[in-house]
Amino acid sequence: MGHKLPEAGADWTDLKQQMLDFGSGDADWRHGRTGMYVFFAGDDVLKVAKEAYTLYMSENALGPYAFPSLKRMEQEVINIGSSLLHGPDDGCGSMTSGGTESIFLAIKSARDRAASRGVDITKANIVVPYSAHLAFDKACHYLGLEIRKIPLAEDHRADPAAMADSVDSNTILVAGSAPAFPHGLIDPIEEIANIALKKDLWMHVDACVGGYFAPFAAMNGAELPSFDFSVPGVCTMSADLHKYGYCAKGASTVLYRDKDLFSHQQFDCDQWPAGRMVTPNIAGTRPGGAVAAAWAVLHYLGQEGYRTKAKLVTDTREKLEAAIDKSDDLVVWGKPQLGLIAYGSKILDIQAVWKKMFFDRGWFIGTIQEPAGIHMMLTPAHADVIDIYIDDLNTCVTEVKEEGGSKPTEEFKYSG
Ligand SMILES: Cc1ncc(COP(=O)(O)O)c(C=O)c1O
Repeated sequence: MGHKLPEAGADWTDLKQQMLDFGSGDADWRHGRTGMYVFFAGDDVLKVAKEAYTLYMSENALGPYAFPSLKRMEQEVINIGSSLLHGPDDGCGSMTSGGTESIFLAIKSARDRAASRGVDITKANIVVPYSAHLAFDKACHYLGLEIRKIPLAEDHRADPAAMADSVDSNTILVAGSAPAFPHGLIDPIEEIANIALKKDLWMHVDACVGGYFAPFAAMNGAELPSFDFSVPGVCTMSADLHKYGYCAKGASTVLYRDKDLFSHQQFDCDQWPAGRMVTPNIAGTRPGGAVAAAWAVLHYLGQEGYRTKAKLVTDTREKLEAAIDKSDDLVVWGKPQLGLIAYGSKILDIQAVWKKMFFDRGWFIGTIQEPAGIHMMLTPAHADVIDIYIDDLNTCVTEVKEEGGSKPTEEFKYSG
């Protein structure tokens, strides 16, 4: 149905009400009903993000000289990210619109460095685990690179030996995730970085989900494998503020080990009448609001706030894991250590369980296809509802068994 610009403007109070009504059928993230898309850390955090966003909503991060405020806040955010992930205190990198852009820029930088070293980039490839986010595929599609996705090891994490076997003279980058989206597991980053060191390749760590979570889980005592700039050979990391950083959407960081590597991200051009433009990101105009909200939320929560939220999330994950372990029908895929969990069944049709959870019980949760399973990104909002979730899960499992669904899911090609 067509929708045209109204001839006359309308009253904001009415419009606001209409817009609120539009949302009446949306997933209820505020009450922990979603397993993806929204990382809600409480109304207080949301208020800070909203107010900070609107303070700088009209300003444009494209203009650092016009808006030294945004330049300062962006650099301070980068410094925070870099120091949390054991990069230089005087951080190198940029804020971007999200994980996809951060990954894109890291791959672009690797490509441009390779070109500057005389590599024929029309033949270049990157080697990543099969679990790497599809943002890697998208970047390669846009940049004209080949992507080699290497099957995972038995434990659902990257298989560094198989990755090494796929590297050839046209490889420019290897990568791992911390954690990977599908199973929520941290890849063996040190082993992958060793390949990069031996072959002089660019190494990227995709910590879009873990970058602003894992450091706090580690401070709380989780024994995590090294996954950041503390690992020699890691050149770049992507870490999303709009996930477990609880910042307003449109905020990620792409971080570099040093300025030399970062220099490959810049786009510098003067071939038009208006003059020279130097931009590090894909975007021209960049929302000042996203920068300001990120700066505000990081300072509002501080280390203590993030540690408290991380504990809520890991406690919730452990509770769910314990319930799954107790069940004879369900199994957690791998050994998650952060906020993500994927579980399935060796004997039950997990797709049937997911359908019941999703459609009958109102849990807006995702799925994975290999192995078939249910996927959850746990957030602080889930702490209050995890008992209800577990009860519902047990009931749905019983119903599926009663209805004769006692066979593993054969084909499962839907992801919420
Ligand atoms: C591991 C990982 N990398 C990258 C991304 C892409 O992030 P975005 O959706 O912000 O572009 C995601 C999104 O969930 C992710 O989980």
